[in-house]
Amino acid sequence: MAENRIYITTPIYYVNDAPHIGHSYSTILADVLARYHRLFGDQVRFQTGADEHGQKVQQSAAARGVTPQQHCDEYSPRFQEMWEKLGISPDHLFIRTTSDSHKQAVQALLQKLHDQGDIYKDSYTGWYSVSDEMFITDTEVTEEGKEAGRIIEVSEENYFFRVNKYKDWLIDYLENQNPGFILPQTRRNEVLGMLRQPLSDLCISRPKSRLEWGIELPFDSDYVTYVWFDALVNYISGLGWPDSEDFQIWWPHSLHLIGKDILKPHGFFWPIMLHAAGIPLPKQILAHGWWTRGGHKESKTVTSELAAQAPVRHISELVEEYGVDPIRYFLIKEMTLGQDSDYSEELIVHRLNGDLANDLGNLVSRVTKLVKQYFDSKVPPLTDANAGAEVRKCAEELPAKVRGLIAEFRPNQAMETILELVRRTNGYVAECEPWAKAKSGDLTSAGDCLAVSTRALRYTAILLHPVLPRKVEEVLERIGCPIEKDTVSAGDLDWNLPAAGTQLHEGKPIFPRLDWDAIAKKIEASPQDQASAEEAGAETNLVTFDDFSKLDLRIAEVLEAEKVLKTDKLLRLQIRVGEENRQIVAGVAENYSPEEIVGKQIVIVANLQPAKIRGVESQGMLLAAREGKSLRLITVDGGNIPSGASVS
Ligand code: MSP
Repeated sequence: MAENRIYITTPIYYVNDAPHIGHSYSTILADVLARYHRLFGDQVRFQTGADEHGQKVQQSAAARGVTPQQHCDEYSPRFQEMWEKLGISPDHLFIRTTSDSHKQAVQALLQKLHDQGDIYKDSYTGWYSVSDEMFITDTEVTEEGKEAGRIIEVSEENYFFRVNKYKDWLIDYLENQNPGFILPQTRRNEVLGMLRQPLSDLCISRPKSRLEWGIELPFDSDYVTYVWFDALVNYISGLGWPDSEDFQIWWPHSLHLIGKDILKPHGFFWPIMLHAAGIPLPKQILAHGWWTRGGHKESKTVTSELAAQAPVRHISELVEEYGVDPIRYFLIKEMTLGQDSDYSEELIVHRLNGDLANDLGNLVSRVTKLVKQYFDSKVPPLTDANAGAEVRKCAEELPAKVRGLIAEFRPNQAMETILELVRRTNGYVAECEPWAKAKSGDLTSAGDCLAVSTRALRYTAILLHPVLPRKVEEVLERIGCPIEKDTVSAGDLDWNLPAAGTQLHEGKPIFPRLDWDAIAKKIEASPQDQASAEEAGAETNLVTFDDFSKLDLRIAEVLEAEKVLKTDKLLRLQIRVGEENRQIVAGVAENYSPEEIVGKQIVIVANLQPAKIRGVESQGMLLAAREGKSLRLITVDGGNIPSGASVS
């Protein structure tokens, strides 16, 4: 088999987000494509990661009284844990934009573009969206956004990248040189549409006075670089650009998988950044659609009405309920790449029952049961080479078809094609009626039918491995062809296997039938299960009383206070909680002087895991109300409440 290479990347996810089904899909899709390429003998490099700079991270860290780096160190592993849960190939690479090698690559690129005059300084006044971390046009400004402080007017000097200089080149590239560069075509057309509008050059910096948490511009230490100029570079910094062999080896084979929401930076800024710097473009960019619920994009903040209308649990709970592999299967089978896909938990159950329980699961149990019943669980010999000729043809044509569909980015079609073989084989067993043949004494024909079906099942299983790795390994075990975890190869497909005499193992159904009514009742009975608002760490959490009662909130009295060295924000407080003295670190120094805070009664979370903040141990966290830069402590409204009293 010819050896090809592919370097597959996912977007790097904002570290502040709690991973949800959207992020999970991008990563599972990349993993499935990576696994298919490996199955067909290609060399694969697969990279995902975390986007760790920017205003939101800076703000969240400040609100928690920790440094942005500490915040990232705590939040980044949530993605890695999620990927482990979702069966993502363990050899994937995980890049963090706070790593030194990434920072160096970003600075090298900026320096090059600055040196050649493609980056210049200019002053700019405009509306800035705090939540999107970008300047927006007048038409995008809303009164409500201004009132809430999400949209602010900013006037400042900044650095700009001359995208206009290269825009005609990119139009020509997309139209004539490489029309298949951005897929699907509708997205390419969208980018062309953007490029034909009057464009302003791209602002690529933020003054440190406004945003500290970013990569410093190598030519002006008062500025950090804008989020996209940092994030996009991960695709080459992860390869060790500029000076690495890996870059030479892998970059020509790069495929960026992205969601359609980030088409503009990938389809427009990124090719221009690379071209201007004399770096070849990635091979391809593929934008997938969104998972929607009741027609709305799935995200961490889903409204409660939507949650009530279309209840779906968080991806980690779906995995617990249905298993990793079935959820991977659902996501791959259900979405046509490029289009949006609406989903609900009922739909998940329906699809899993149809394809996995009724078709694939049924074939596994039929074959193992019948071989057990009539052939003492040993695969019978295939005596008639023409038996099941159609099934055989379908099986032997399948690898090339699947490979082709994967190359065309149609994994859902690949699933369908494999399922066709499963259905055809089930149909063949029903037609042959091996049980009737065996009963009437024609064990040879019964054996031929079961030998054909077992061989077809092996084809199916091997070709489904990238989507259902653990389940397929179970199936292969049952049909006497076990493999080492994740070592499957299309080169192992052979119509002669499993050989006659191979021992099969009957077991419990691999894909048990799901009872939607019972599951629906369970969802209804557990209100915290509704919607994705329960995602770990999401700001819009709905919590149950049980969740809340896990917190041990106590009244404490501040005995002593001093500033933490080399910080503006942190106070080290010695506090008394009942009989106990403790030390906590609190991010309140900009609002309270040490003198002011001593003697106050405060509310603390007393059962928080101790943490080191700027090297100082903190044994709890105080509660305060914050609005913009103002912050006031939560305290007790008079009365005689002693320290140590619990808050409920
Ligand atoms: N950090 C940027 C990407 C930088 S890449 C150089 C970012 N991060 S993100 O955390 O918001 O993740 C965005 C990606 O998550 C989307 O591009 C998409 O791949 C995936 N999804 C998030 N919500 C989604 C859905 N509802 N449906 C499908 N995927 C979506 O943007």
